[in-house]
Amino acid sequence: MVSETVKLNNGLDMPLVGLGCWKIPNEVCASQVYEAIKLGYRLFDGAQDYGNEKQVGEGIRKAIDDGIVARKDLFVVSKLWNSYHDPKNVKSALKKTLSDMGLEYLDLFYIHFPLAFKYVPFEERYPPGFYTGAEDEKKGVISLEKVPILDTYRALEECVKEGLIKSIGISNFRGILIHDLLAGAKIPPVCLQIEHHPYLTQEHLIEYCEQAGIQVVAYSSFGPQSFIELDSELAKSTPTLFEHESVKTIANKHNVTASQVLLRWATQRGIAIIPKSSKKERLLDNLQINEKLTLTEAEVKAISALNKDIRFNDPFTWLNSKFPVFA
Ligand SMILES: NC(=O)c1ccc[n+]([C@@H]2O[C@H](COP(=O)([O-])OP(=O)(O)OC[C@H]3O[C@@H](n4cnc5c(N)ncnc54)[C@H](OP(=O)(O)O)[C@@H]3O)[C@@H](O)[C@H]2O)c1
Repeated sequence: MVSETVKLNNGLDMPLVGLGCWKIPNEVCASQVYEAIKLGYRLFDGAQDYGNEKQVGEGIRKAIDDGIVARKDLFVVSKLWNSYHDPKNVKSALKKTLSDMGLEYLDLFYIHFPLAFKYVPFEERYPPGFYTGAEDEKKGVISLEKVPILDTYRALEECVKEGLIKSIGISNFRGILIHDLLAGAKIPPVCLQIEHHPYLTQEHLIEYCEQAGIQVVAYSSFGPQSFIELDSELAKSTPTLFEHESVKTIANKHNVTASQVLLRWATQRGIAIIPKSSKKERLLDNLQINEKLTLTEAEVKAISALNKDIRFNDPFTWLNSKFPVFA
């Protein structure tokens, strides 16, 4: 069973449901991706920062070699990390991802955050994460580079022209920054990837993207769940959405799981999803939501009403750097 697709503003069809690859441990990642393809997953949402692109690529290539799927039927996604925003580093960073994955092109390459960190050579540390040099590490700080977002974006447009990527995406951008980017972009971004769950519904941003022809992709659809393993105090002190009375009541009524209600609430509003799981037994549950469940309008509204504007992934909290991405 393969997910239904949405048409992007460049004419490409993108699956509405994909597999998120953040924190899939390297030792299970290749087999998880391979298994996911066997079950019908066609979109893989990766990133340079996740440190598992070699394994994601290994799973993909095994599935292609075994004749389960052709490259053209897959939608492979990565994200440019903050350390490579300078136009002179964009293409080499992309080529590193392509070589790690063993692929010739990506279907979609996002700017992961609108934040340009100081460049770190691959041989010094890869992926660098919050590391911007030994001195900074000692002091516990992150250094930035003065690179305007449009400069990074123009370098990505060149990568599209060269056929290394089919589409450009943006992630963790707010409305006014998108508005500004669109004023200078020659190839509009196809997708905006944002944190989105019933505690952070972001209605205005979603409405803006709809009218601008940009597809919204939700990350962390299960809210606090993904951040508990990172030991986030905020996540640990926020009631889990899986046990939320409103979500559970709706799940029981439809005889589905709470996780499926959370995912369907997004797709039913036209938002693409990329739930992550390292467990094979959860893959099918997360993929089969659209066929299995249709929420009533009142149920969609009831879930949207849980909004509390709680954001678990906020650069303001990174090493106390107070980066005002969402301030
Ligand atoms: N652009 C960005 O800045 C950004 C930031 C965060 C995430 N993302 C992307 O979005 C993807 C999804 O977000 P996420 O990984 O933060 O979180 P998520 O998909 O909301 O949640 C993942 C967590 O939920 C558990 N889980 C998965 N399926 C489940 C099910 N059916 N029932 C119960 N628990 C389930 C997983 O555990 P198990 O693994 O044990 O199943 C894991 O702990 C990421 O993998 C990444 O690709 C992007």
